[in-house]
Amino acid sequence: MKAAVVGGTGLAGRHVVDALQARGVDTVVLSRRGGVDVATGAGLDEALSGVQRVVDASNAGTTDEAAARAFFTAAGRHLQQAGERAHVERLVVLSIVGVDRASGGYLATKLDHERTARSGTVPTFVLRSTQFHEFAGQTLAWGRQGDVCWIPEFLVQPVAVAAMARVLADLVLAMDPRPGVSEVAGPQQEKLVDMATRLAARRGDPVEVRGAPDDSADGRAFAGGALLPDPGATITGPTFQEWLDAGERDRFE
Ligand SMILES: NC(=O)c1ccc[n+]([C@@H]2O[C@H](COP(=O)([O-])OP(=O)(O)OC[C@H]3O[C@@H](n4cnc5c(N)ncnc54)[C@H](OP(=O)(O)O)[C@@H]3O)[C@@H](O)[C@H]2O)c1
Repeated sequence: MKAAVVGGTGLAGRHVVDALQARGVDTVVLSRRGGVDVATGAGLDEALSGVQRVVDASNAGTTDEAAARAFFTAAGRHLQQAGERAHVERLVVLSIVGVDRASGGYLATKLDHERTARSGTVPTFVLRSTQFHEFAGQTLAWGRQGDVCWIPEFLVQPVAVAAMARVLADLVLAMDPRPGVSEVAGPQQEKLVDMATRLAARRGDPVEVRGAPDDSADGRAFAGGALLPDPGATITGPTFQEWLDAGERDRFE
């Protein structure tokens, strides 16, 4: 079995590569650094030669809605088309829980990503993940203004990225995968503001964490549970607190 992980050098992709290799899969990493560009399709035909399973864990590198949509739809289209030419058996797309409940922004573009990737002959499976535990650190970096850090008032059910990657690897290899869209989440609901506050304290970062009020429809929805998984989601991995106590690691890492 040979698999390719697009974005296999990224936060999520690295762990997907590890999880597939731990299951004995010959795994290749596709990224621009390695000469493959899913936005243009450059290098894809050569890279997918002999590959049976493809994971798309790439990212747009921007939260600008138009630019992210252009990236994700191009990536989905190019992977389907090149996958068909290479007789790929299965495409697995990493997405985000709640994409179907966002009216706009980056999150909504991931729904376009899913739809484009699924529009073709290569059987395509979507794994929607909740926010990674690592998201708390990302928001701490993004929201900083001097001594204060403004964090979105999201209600989330975060998952350790390594634990998510093991579930994704199982989907890549499953004999009889659940069709369409499935979800993965961590074991416990959290307020993103609390996560960022505890992470900053644990790191000895004196920044003052404050909730960023957002009275838009999406802001209210994300604060009210639109990012939480459906009841059928796979629940896995350590809680955010366990991950924090283990030094920002999953105990299997
Ligand atoms: N962060 C979260 O909490 C979260 C939760 C659920 C789902 N997700 C989803 O998980 C996916 C991966 O996110 P991430 O945070 O792991 O991303 P990331 O760390 O930014 O990594 C992005 C990866 O994509 C590659 N890439 C970017 N542009 C490319 C292109 N044109 N062609 C080929 N490869 C390209 C990058 O490598 P090069 O730069 O070398 O090309 C890198 O390997 C995203 O779709 C995101 O929406 C994230």
